[in-house]
Amino acid sequence: MAAKARIAVIGAGLMGHGIAQVFALADHDVTIHDQLAANLDSAKTRILANLKDLGDDQSAVERVRQVPLLADAVRDADYVVEAVLEDLSVKQKLFVEIERHVGGETILASNTSVIPITRIMEGLRDRSRALGTHWWNPPFLVPLVEVIGTQWTSQRAVEWTIALHKAAGKMPVHVKRDVPGFVGNRLQHALWREAISLVERGICDAGTVDTVIKASFGRRLAVLGPLENADLVGTDLTLAIHQTVLPDIEHRGGPSPYLEALVAQKKLGFKSGEGFRKWSADQQAALRSQVLQHLKKARASDG
Ligand SMILES: NC(=O)c1ccc[n+]([C@@H]2O[C@H](COP(=O)([O-])OP(=O)(O)OC[C@H]3O[C@@H](n4cnc5c(N)ncnc54)[C@H](O)[C@@H]3O)[C@@H](O)[C@H]2O)c1
Repeated sequence: MAAKARIAVIGAGLMGHGIAQVFALADHDVTIHDQLAANLDSAKTRILANLKDLGDDQSAVERVRQVPLLADAVRDADYVVEAVLEDLSVKQKLFVEIERHVGGETILASNTSVIPITRIMEGLRDRSRALGTHWWNPPFLVPLVEVIGTQWTSQRAVEWTIALHKAAGKMPVHVKRDVPGFVGNRLQHALWREAISLVERGICDAGTVDTVIKASFGRRLAVLGPLENADLVGTDLTLAIHQTVLPDIEHRGGPSPYLEALVAQKKLGFKSGEGFRKWSADQQAALRSQVLQHLKKARASDG
């Protein structure tokens, strides 16, 4: 990997501007493109505000160039990462278009949350250059990036991408098989499925679910992963627990009817003021700020 690469970020929304910020801070030249002029035009202002807020080098924003035409944004890029709308056909069309304008060596990455990379990249002429890079929000505070290869992805593309993210201070992991949700979102949503089920079955209310997690194993999770924990307590004890608990744990193959009912009733969470719980504007702001402060402290303690 060249010390200074040319990176193109497509999509200047929540994720895209943050990804551009990380690469610019790592001394790369970054182009950013969005089909919506308002989002493109505000990208550098948002990046600068983040850099200021975090106490990071504000001159990094000068390495970011807002580019109104997709072809111009990607033409000279060594690496293109897409963070547009989570929609399969939008992403498929976008990558086919991007491939028309880039050189033969350019690596193409999608930041999809859960869509298999194989589906997104199936229309490309050279699928060996394509992979997934799943970042977490906010990209400049959460270290993990899952690097997902398909059956076509070359080892060179995976290794180059991992090296790029490591050098930018991220913590890349290699996901060897392209499954929906990759690793992080599968684990996260396995937990959410049981959390919703506990409420649905009247075992406890939504606030209790969150308190139980935050005040118990949630405290340990940042330093003790589940498989480390299983080894710590013993695989024999883990097996005994699973024999008792797993038969009763939610294992339906689709979304919960309780969740479907909330959506049907327009109880959409923060954006409608009520989801599993009611949320005033102040409560929403307080929770957002608490998460941000927590992630900033964690980054500071990473050093
Ligand atoms: N928000 C998260 O927490 C999160 C985390 C990880 C991954 N992701 C994934 O990252 C991607 C982007 O998510 P986001 O939260 O930044 O969304 P967002 O809505 O904030 O931003 C998406 C941007 O893409 C632009 N866009 C849409 N279609 C386009 C196109 N064809 N060409 C150029 N620009 C286009 C939109 O104008 C918008 O600015 C999605 O695939 C999402 O699933 C999101």
